[in-house]
Amino acid sequence: MDSVKKAPFEESGTLSIFHQMTKLRAMGKDIINLCVGEPDIPPYHIIEEEAIRAIKSHKIMYTPSEGIQALREVVSGLLHSEGFHVSPDQNILITSGAKSALFLTFMALTEKNDEVIVPVPYYPSYIPLIRYAGAVPVLIKGNPQKGFKVSPSDIEPYLTSKSRFFLLNSPVNPTGSVYHPQELEELLSFLAQKNILCVNDDVYGHFIYDETLKSDIKACIHKYQESMILIRSFSKEYAMTGWRIGYLATPDRYISPLKILQGHILGNAQTASQYAALKALENPKRFCVPLDIFKSRREFVKNIFDHVKNVHYVEPMGAFYLFANIQKSCPGKSSEDVCQDLLEKVGVAVTPGKAFGLEGFIRISYADGTALKKGLERLVEGLTSR
Ligand SMILES: Cc1ncc(COP(=O)(O)O)c(C=O)c1O
Repeated sequence: MDSVKKAPFEESGTLSIFHQMTKLRAMGKDIINLCVGEPDIPPYHIIEEEAIRAIKSHKIMYTPSEGIQALREVVSGLLHSEGFHVSPDQNILITSGAKSALFLTFMALTEKNDEVIVPVPYYPSYIPLIRYAGAVPVLIKGNPQKGFKVSPSDIEPYLTSKSRFFLLNSPVNPTGSVYHPQELEELLSFLAQKNILCVNDDVYGHFIYDETLKSDIKACIHKYQESMILIRSFSKEYAMTGWRIGYLATPDRYISPLKILQGHILGNAQTASQYAALKALENPKRFCVPLDIFKSRREFVKNIFDHVKNVHYVEPMGAFYLFANIQKSCPGKSSEDVCQDLLEKVGVAVTPGKAFGLEGFIRISYADGTALKKGLERLVEGLTSR
């Protein structure tokens, strides 16, 4: 073979810092993890037990591409309770986490050169996944005063005859911004009018700290289900990152190509994980990760940064990240250089804003609380002693 198809992009910036941290730790270096977006608590024992039971009782064969019927029924029941009109047979696809749902969506539903509108800053994998599919990401920076959220007036100038999808992620990774119900209503009704499908990456939907907003947000979302691909995952909400399990819900006309593609590339989502997910959804309120833990970590991180001179941050209303502006504290330095220095000089791993499409920022994750205080002390020392 004289040529090999090359990936048209680099490794994800979030994974790159994670891999560096792992390498340094393997060399015996003491590095504190403030980079990975992965809850440090295990899933409920009963969920783990269910996966083991599935394996031991040989319920570990191929499943239908769309996932086991029982899980699709429970997902559909959950969505019904939120106001969605979905059928387990027509509208639900069980996927290997949100990443594979995103990949399937772009690969199966976009035509060459279709445009996908992506607010900046963004989750790093969006851009390569869109490009892999032959579509074109159209990047729109939202208003910094509004936590970088975008509104119809931000989007309007970028619309073309090729505009096909909008990527909604709320709470947002990396800012922690949350679209309020009214903002969502304006955004989703605008997209529906313009015939633009909303890919709703809802992986952090559980992590909204003002819980009074949740029901209004859900009420708004289901109204626009006809023009939406809703993507959810068990990774964060049930602390099941490595289990690779999630789901997608969308109208009949989109589901079939997604299902067919999943059949070709994965066959089905991991079988034992499907049974574990079924167990988790038996009692979602009880088995999801406790929000209080993350809420108090958020307060802790905010309190520290409130007292750091020359570092401002986006108000984190959800997810488990703080997105800090380091332009004043580290003038003239790229976010990658700042993160590299922090890793090597003070032993703390955080992610450069560049990975999310925005220079001058770093993302601090408080998903792992094992050494949060010490990690933040090191971080503040690293940011203020230059
Ligand atoms: C915004 C966003 N979408 C998707 C994913 C991928 O989630 P999953 O583990 O379900 O593939 C992540 C993971 O960090 C994320 O932050």
